[in-house]
Amino acid sequence: MKFEDQQQHRQQPSIVKLLKFQYNSFLSCLLFLVLGIGLGFYLSSYLKEITFNLQLNQLSFLPPLSKSTPPPPTSISGQPPPPFISDQPPLSISDQQEETAASLIRKISSPFLVPNYTNSQNFTQNWLKEFLRPPKVMHDMEDEELLWRASMVPRIKEYPFKRVPKVAFLFLTKGPMIFGPLWERFFRGHRGLYSIYVHSHPFFNGTVPKRSVFYGRRIPSKDVRWGDMNMVEAERRLLANGLLDISNERFVLLSESCIPLFNFSTIYNYLVNSLETFVESYDLPGGVGRGRYHRRMRPQITLEDWRKGSQWFEMDRFLALEVIADRTYFPVFRRFCRGSCYGDEHYLPTFVTMKFWNRNSNRSLTYVDWSKRGPHPASFQRTDVTVEFLERLRNATTCEYNGHITNVCFLFARKFLPNALDRLLKFASPVLKF
Ligand SMILES: *[C@@H]1O[C@H](CO)[C@@H](O)[C@H](O)[C@H]1NC(C)=O
Ligand SMILES: *[C@@H]1O[C@H](CO)[C@@H](O)[C@H](O)[C@H]1NC(C)=O
Ligand SMILES: *[C@@H]1O[C@H](CO)[C@@H](O)[C@H](O)[C@H]1NC(C)=O
Ligand SMILES: *[C@@H]1O[C@H](CO)[C@@H](O)[C@H](O)[C@H]1NC(C)=O
Ligand SMILES: *[C@@H]1O[C@H](CO)[C@@H](O)[C@H](O)[C@H]1NC(C)=O
Ligand SMILES: *[C@@H]1O[C@H](CO)[C@@H](O)[C@H](O)[C@H]1NC(C)=O
Repeated sequence: MKFEDQQQHRQQPSIVKLLKFQYNSFLSCLLFLVLGIGLGFYLSSYLKEITFNLQLNQLSFLPPLSKSTPPPPTSISGQPPPPFISDQPPLSISDQQEETAASLIRKISSPFLVPNYTNSQNFTQNWLKEFLRPPKVMHDMEDEELLWRASMVPRIKEYPFKRVPKVAFLFLTKGPMIFGPLWERFFRGHRGLYSIYVHSHPFFNGTVPKRSVFYGRRIPSKDVRWGDMNMVEAERRLLANGLLDISNERFVLLSESCIPLFNFSTIYNYLVNSLETFVESYDLPGGVGRGRYHRRMRPQITLEDWRKGSQWFEMDRFLALEVIADRTYFPVFRRFCRGSCYGDEHYLPTFVTMKFWNRNSNRSLTYVDWSKRGPHPASFQRTDVTVEFLERLRNATTCEYNGHITNVCFLFARKFLPNALDRLLKFASPVLKF
């Protein structure tokens, strides 16, 4: 009986069922219609946007380069070579490439839009130049976004254009640039061979005149405390900003109490021709060396890996990229190097010695006087600054440079007090030769 009932039900669909079916198919038709119209609207506005944005947005990447070969030896004297970013278009794109871009725009926009060739022609002509132009120093990227963008590297190592290597001077400061007038003199006449980046306290509101070399060179900054790992974060922020300019080849960290010991040409040639990086690194037994190691840093970092060294580094583009892209050792330091660990004295020496020891000189280019014991190095004031003193800093010891012995071991010195400025300016020309 039961079985028969079911059979009847199946063979004779009720009117209700039939109506329901028709109603359903009507609904799906309606749905398709609405979807179709929506899709049409969306596509047309989307394509309009593509055509428009193609001209503006395609250039927003600036991949820095990785360097595995030393930069071509460059020598400068008097007249600096023309900087890569100049007003004359240094690059010409062939007609064929231009044609390809135009046809791409036509293909994407057709049949919805008529492309505007007046705009697209200009765009193609300056393509690479625009692509390579570094963004404004003050930007809205968060640290994570900045590091990601700065970590991009072209896989073709040869440059298809003339690239003049620049030295990036990274200033980690609290407030005003106390030796500004000295640095202005140092940089004068060498535009195109250097870039300046300033990381100061985010609340610092001082300004510099428009003609100053420091004008508009402040990067988005965060609070930095002495001995804290956020000091290393600031260093990485400076490096990453410097990497956004593909011309920057060497990176030197300085503070407002640092001074140059040689003129620009001497320092430029020393850095650009160096086959090594200058990150001080040594193994120090005892409380202020190995004693700062935390055993929970194992297994990534062992006690034997632990190194100490001055925070004031100098490195090339290759190492700078590795530092900002380090996602293995830096997080370990951030987690376990706290309090009296002083990460700024250990992170780079340890990281560089573990991974890139074969290209590192293990010495710093910045002279610091630690002869007076204590947590801070000696400060030099007005009366300390004499001709003999400066001569001694310029020619004190011997060290190795590109495999030979030299007595130019320090290019910079610290820490100088603001009252030393007038004497430094006085001796700049006769002693420091600038
Ligand atoms: C193309 O762009 C130029 C410059 O922006 C503008 O003057 C011109 O009117 C545009 N042409 C068309 C057809 O939209
Ligand atoms: C194209 O570029 C030239 C020179 O760079 C400029 O003078 C001209 O106004 C540009 N034209 C358009 C349509 O942008
Ligand atoms: C700059 O900051 C100082 C201290 O925070 C404040 O006294 C001063 O008014 C500020 N100056 C300007 C121009 O905002
Ligand atoms: C830079 O200093 C060196 C010596 O340190 C000197 O031989 C050279 O002439 C100086 N260059 C300029 C442009 O003054
Ligand atoms: C730097 O130190 C590392 C490890 O301590 C060592 O292997 C390397 O040879 C040193 N480099 C120089 C140039 O002394
Ligand atoms: C550096 O000092 C040494 C010995 O003190 C001297 O022979 C040499 O001439 C000095 N070099 C310079 C460039 O002053």
